[in-house]
Amino acid sequence: MGPGRVVGALGPPPSTEPGRFGRPLPGRSQLPDLGQPRSATRASGRLADGASTVTPSASQGAAMPAVVVVGAQWGDEGKGKATDQLGQDVDYVVKFNGGNNAGHTVVIDGEAFALHLLPAGVLTPGVTPVIGNGVVVDLEVLFSEIAEIASRGRDASALRISASAHLIPSYNRVLDRTTERFLGERRLGTTGRGIGPTYADKMNRVGIRVQDLFDESILRQKVHSALDQKNGLFLKIFNRPAIDPDAVTDDLLSYAERVRPMVIDCSLVLNEALDDGKTVLFEAGQATMLDIDHGTYPFVTSSSPTAGGACTGTGVGPTRIDSVVGVVKAYATRVGEGPFPTEVTGVEGERLRSEGGEYGVTTGRPRRCGWHDAVVTRYAARVNGLTDLVMTKLDVLTGYETIPVCVAYDVDGVRTEEMPLTQSDVHHAVPVYEELPGWREDITGVREFSDLPAEARTYVTRIEELARTRVSAIGVGPGREATITRHRLLG
Ligand code: GDP
Ligand code: IMO
Ligand code: MG
Repeated sequence: MGPGRVVGALGPPPSTEPGRFGRPLPGRSQLPDLGQPRSATRASGRLADGASTVTPSASQGAAMPAVVVVGAQWGDEGKGKATDQLGQDVDYVVKFNGGNNAGHTVVIDGEAFALHLLPAGVLTPGVTPVIGNGVVVDLEVLFSEIAEIASRGRDASALRISASAHLIPSYNRVLDRTTERFLGERRLGTTGRGIGPTYADKMNRVGIRVQDLFDESILRQKVHSALDQKNGLFLKIFNRPAIDPDAVTDDLLSYAERVRPMVIDCSLVLNEALDDGKTVLFEAGQATMLDIDHGTYPFVTSSSPTAGGACTGTGVGPTRIDSVVGVVKAYATRVGEGPFPTEVTGVEGERLRSEGGEYGVTTGRPRRCGWHDAVVTRYAARVNGLTDLVMTKLDVLTGYETIPVCVAYDVDGVRTEEMPLTQSDVHHAVPVYEELPGWREDITGVREFSDLPAEARTYVTRIEELARTRVSAIGVGPGREATITRHRLLG
């Protein structure tokens, strides 16, 4: 944030209510009031001798200098809108996982932007957008996205990229698509962007990183050794032509000088920013149920979109994170294959899809639609340590007589309120629904919680009760302004 920008224009002062669900809710009132930046008061002693030299900045005094925003369902919850909105009050917006499999929609003054690789902060003047080391970067997509937003008057010159982020070489796009075709009925329904093969290379220690662009001989060597293996696969298993490693290397090198000015040590820059009292927002791609560890494996993406990924994907330690905001739709959607217990098909599913505009931002695929699954939301609250929920698209549920909310599963005759332990049980889970009364009034113009119809308020409060996490903001339309704020998420 530049000097003089107002911190926290998102709504009324923070709530000082005690936690309603048996555990304390974080809020400014619980922070140590020692008259100095919070980073200087940590028990870790990390800043013990530098505390008095911390430079005041416009955002100093904000109670939440490091906020993580994650998806609490299967993606497309509206993280782009939430990040953009919070991004008005922060200094850095950092993408920490995934790549251009993401599609984040941001609507500013009626103009819609679909961002894939660029962090949502790129649309806000004064914010430094950062691509963290946990992200996988397709350079062709990066520069075409920069050109696309430039053609619409937006400047990405502040963008910074971690030297340790991995690159998606063209052969991994080919491998992703070829593998999906090869799997046929058993496919995962990936976005075909080369995400899985690139993370596999990273773990297999044959990945190509941003920093490799600046050492031609190392780069050439790495591409050759990666393709030594993959060309065997292309030729012998997939019956495809081999890929020329020198052509791939030359293509990557052609971006080097354009990338060079953007490259940073992400961990150093962000930790110094936090030391200086700046605010950092960590933006997840994908979502909890697509997490490689905590999602519906194997129907997941290949990265860590949960809150811990914000630390490993940027080099900022967990003790520096102040809050974790989970974005949930008022209902639920999923793109691609895999279990989705509350899915509704037929006319009901089509109604949610058309009223919610549920088509993929990245692939244009129709999204599978279903009712809100509070088992999933509560699970997301647990694995991410959520401090707040942002509920989006409440407006889409207007006009129903009653609205089902899944409160538990029946797994082979046994009721459970937790995510089942095994993949087979998740596949067998039958939702147990509670029917909540619907409302008919148009709520798109509502900006105060108390002005919502009583039934809509009950819907929100029942879900927060089931999720054991407060719903701090509610989306009633795609635009930045179409939000009801109940508790401030920043400062
Ligand atoms: P993301 O991937 O989590 O950023 O979400 P997407 O952008 O893929 O999908 C969310 C869609 O819902 C986008 O088209 C948003 O413009 C839209 N959206 C976000 N919040 C709201 C809301 O509260 N109401 C309505 N009607 N649309 C919303
Ligand atoms: P945002 O950030 C919804 C899904 C794909 C597929 C699975 C694996 O917009 O919420 P991948 O290409 O990542 O290997 O595909 O993950 N998927 C998403 N679904 N929203 C996304 O991103 C997604 N990114 C990946 O559909 O099922
Ligand atoms: Mg999306």
